[in-house]
Amino acid sequence: METASPILFFDSGVGGLSVVAPTRALLPTAQFVYAADTAGFPYGTKSEAEIAARVPALLGRLVERYRPRLVVVACNTASTIALSAVRGALDVPVVGTVPAIKSAAEASTTRVIGVLGTDATVRQPYVDRLSAEFASDCTVVRHGSAALVVLAEAKLRGEPVAVAEVRAAIAGLFDGPHGGSIDTVVLACTHFPLLAEELAAAVPHPVRFVDGGPGIARRIAHLTAGQDWPDTARPGVAVVTRLDDAARTLAPAFAARGFPELVQL
Ligand code: DGL
Repeated sequence: METASPILFFDSGVGGLSVVAPTRALLPTAQFVYAADTAGFPYGTKSEAEIAARVPALLGRLVERYRPRLVVVACNTASTIALSAVRGALDVPVVGTVPAIKSAAEASTTRVIGVLGTDATVRQPYVDRLSAEFASDCTVVRHGSAALVVLAEAKLRGEPVAVAEVRAAIAGLFDGPHGGSIDTVVLACTHFPLLAEELAAAVPHPVRFVDGGPGIARRIAHLTAGQDWPDTARPGVAVVTRLDDAARTLAPAFAARGFPELVQL
């Protein structure tokens, strides 16, 4: 294993940066590549068939190009739909991000937990299985929001995000049956921790948010324990599937998070 061999993070957009940050805290000199499928963004409104056809093929090309030691599918939508296909297609270890329902169930007092993800994620059988396995004594209220994903991207472009817009995007979680009893909300989309302050300000009553990012970071550190890294941190590369004006407006956000170079796949 070459010391410069990177960890490759993959998402539809900037959401995976919420997994990069806790990983960098644990592995400060690790080499990272961040891949965003800007040509396929957003994933949350796509069909299972589209995601399943797109993600393993794209990751195959990325692995060929960057030869990572580990791939992190830093996207709940892609992970809940295509994780086993990705693992089957790649010859490197793959870490997925799936809703942290177990942690939420451990923390909840009211035994009513919310799962806030994309529309595609919240309807997945994978979420049924996590709920049955780890939260069988809880009521699990699910809500999908495409708007929150767009707001997170806007925030990282430096645009202002109004709390009222976030409030409207999450209203469906709290307005329905059992919504008033939710005390713990799983952030089941990697974009959403990027809106942590806005979400905290927008909830109708105090709740605990569960961000799976730190747990994923610990898993990455565990899987790479004992491997060699460069002595000092080096700049990472952000690779996008379409380098258009919209993608270029994200360059400062990537640069601020350790990816000063922005290239097209
Ligand atoms: N960040 C992604 C997730 O965790 C997907 C956002 C999107 O493209 O809709 O689900």
